[in-house]
Amino acid sequence: MLIEDALNENCVDKSVELKGWVYRKRNVGGKIFIVLRDSSGIIQCVVDRGVVNEDSWRQAEEITRESSCIVEGVVRREPRAPGGYEVKVTRLKTIGLSAWFPIKGTEGVDYLLDHRHLWIRARKMQAIMKIKHTVLEAGREYFNRNGWWEVTPPILTGSACESGATQFEVNYFGQKAYLSQSAQLYLEALIYSLDRVWSLTPSFRAEKSRTRRHLAEYWHLEAEAAWYGMEDMMKVTEELVSYIVSRVLEEREKELKLLKRDTKILENTLETPYPRIKYDEAIEILQKKGVKISWGEDLGADEERVLTEEFDRPFFITHFPKEIKAFYMKLDPENPNLVLGFDMLAPEGYGEIIGGSVREDDYNVLYKRILEVGLNPKEYEWYLDLRKYGTVPHSGFGLGIERTVMWIAGLDHIRDAIPFPRFRERIYP
Ligand code: 4AD
Ligand code: MG
Repeated sequence: MLIEDALNENCVDKSVELKGWVYRKRNVGGKIFIVLRDSSGIIQCVVDRGVVNEDSWRQAEEITRESSCIVEGVVRREPRAPGGYEVKVTRLKTIGLSAWFPIKGTEGVDYLLDHRHLWIRARKMQAIMKIKHTVLEAGREYFNRNGWWEVTPPILTGSACESGATQFEVNYFGQKAYLSQSAQLYLEALIYSLDRVWSLTPSFRAEKSRTRRHLAEYWHLEAEAAWYGMEDMMKVTEELVSYIVSRVLEEREKELKLLKRDTKILENTLETPYPRIKYDEAIEILQKKGVKISWGEDLGADEERVLTEEFDRPFFITHFPKEIKAFYMKLDPENPNLVLGFDMLAPEGYGEIIGGSVREDDYNVLYKRILEVGLNPKEYEWYLDLRKYGTVPHSGFGLGIERTVMWIAGLDHIRDAIPFPRFRERIYP
């Protein structure tokens, strides 16, 4: 039985068997109090010398923090115990006696990263992983319920989707290949067959700096649709984010509480549409607030944080200068110095969680853009072909799963949104 199911009025005076790990242990005059944990929660188990047999008592005396064990006992109401119930133990059997556990939970970041394989047992990490589970489940469900096809793009690729500067190179049987930065180019090919597609894949970025919101390996939820324009696709992203947040609020209340997450702003997120501002307005707002930035510069994490102060829910920035965005974004027909691109920023300082755009669907314009940004059209031959054989207006986006989890869970660093984070200078464990 799971601990969560034993913490229940129906179990009072009933005998239960629980399997888990020792979370805390203390000895108080002839009684040993073991707080047991499993994936579902914690419960206090009382081993009374006068009640259990000699063998169980000896095992309770010897058992150490983080040992695995099986506990049999009777559930009782106990308002002073976590969860309001406790187990009066009748039998205790140690399964894996734990060596001295090297984590108290108060250690520094680097120490905890070195012990990541053990630290992921922490209740905080457990809560975050459960929130991530719900984010992933809701994301998948959103697309599947609305008639999108799930596809499986490759991870080993031959050319850059985003910037060549952040590509991981791989030796592919003596040839150069790369780890995917985004499934987008492949999703674009797939819409000619399936109209509306989505995928969930790892993406890789050889980011030079170690920041609060950059991982070298992250999970990327991406979608692409034929015939969709800018507003159509922004609407999809709003509905998706609002659906994800609603599911987390419904199903992960306990975890949000454990993380002490203030959910007011998450509740605002349920209501769509989200505010939209153009890049021009973003620059004006920043300059008014005393940020040193001029038109044409990219918005970094600091600038985004300042902009989020203006909104109490996610919002969009659109129509960026083409120089700061990728080659595939469609030029704005009303001002060809701009692109029909959009970023969705999460409030409360979090910033970009989604990047999307209308794609350039004209062969000649795209060819010119590829040359302009210094890429080799030869490497993009197949991608250009898509504009040769029945080109179609289309749009798409990518949502960073860990960025989204970081915001929803209210984390101060992205590393905790993934069990085994990869960033510069570190790939352990
Ligand atoms: O804005 P990005 O670079 O856009 C693309 O890759 C597009 N090709 C996606 C598409 O249109 N299909 O990345 C999309 C999202 C970002 O908004 C961010 O949430 C996340 O991916 N992301 C990262 N997350 C963690 N660590 C990193 N280094 C990230 N880089 C991007
Ligand atoms: Mg982006």
